[in-house]
Amino acid sequence: MSKVKGKQGAPAKKKCGSARRRAQHEADPYVQRARAEGWRSRAALKLEAMDKRDGIFSPAGVVVDLGAAPGGWSQLALKRVGKAGAVIAIDCLEMEPISGVEFIQDDFTEQSGLQAVEQALAGREVDVVLSDMAPNLSGHAAIDQPAAIYLAELAADFARQRLSKTGCFLVKTFQGEGFDQFRAQLLRDFNKVITRKPEASRSASRECYLLAREPVL
Ligand SMILES: C[S@@+](CC[C@H](N)C(=O)[O-])C[C@H]1O[C@@H](n2cnc3c(N)ncnc32)[C@H](O)[C@@H]1O
Repeated sequence: MSKVKGKQGAPAKKKCGSARRRAQHEADPYVQRARAEGWRSRAALKLEAMDKRDGIFSPAGVVVDLGAAPGGWSQLALKRVGKAGAVIAIDCLEMEPISGVEFIQDDFTEQSGLQAVEQALAGREVDVVLSDMAPNLSGHAAIDQPAAIYLAELAADFARQRLSKTGCFLVKTFQGEGFDQFRAQLLRDFNKVITRKPEASRSASRECYLLAREPVL
């Protein structure tokens, strides 16, 4: 059996899956750009592009960011709403604090997570609900796709109940089983729904974003 050799004939170190993914991540121009611009995630560049195109935020708005860690979307949301606005963020993972963002570490699928967000809102109407939540991927579409759709549905329920009349809901989802039904439900619950695939979203990924406006009350 042939072995990969290094420069001096010694066996070259073969990159294992996670090291290879790490190297690909580091070489990604969007990762480099996000870092250079001070964003905590490359996802911030996706939101920035969608906001530029579709105008998601307005000054002094109230934003809820579901699945916020490490915090790129919250950084951008805060920048857009300014000091007069509010950003409430939740994630099951820890997140380095962002001054001006109210962060809750909890699971949004649990009653405690939802209640903590409600408590932070203290009765305020919401202008923007963002959900970039993604399940821990098992690599099996039969498990991952329903889990992703479930998170999107929970976020949509929350958005429908808490958004103002002119509010908007941006949700990450994945094309595959359940996607068409989820989109069809959004079309019933909101006056306008558009699908976006920002440049920074890898073309090989089934990920796309749905932007829904004006909940039907
Ligand atoms: C793609 S990352 C979000 C990146 C973020 N938008 C940013 O710009 O930094 C997805 C996040 O969703 C979170 N998440 C997944 N399921 C969740 C749940 N049930 N409740 C809260 N957060 C969840 C994960 O912990 C993960 O941090």
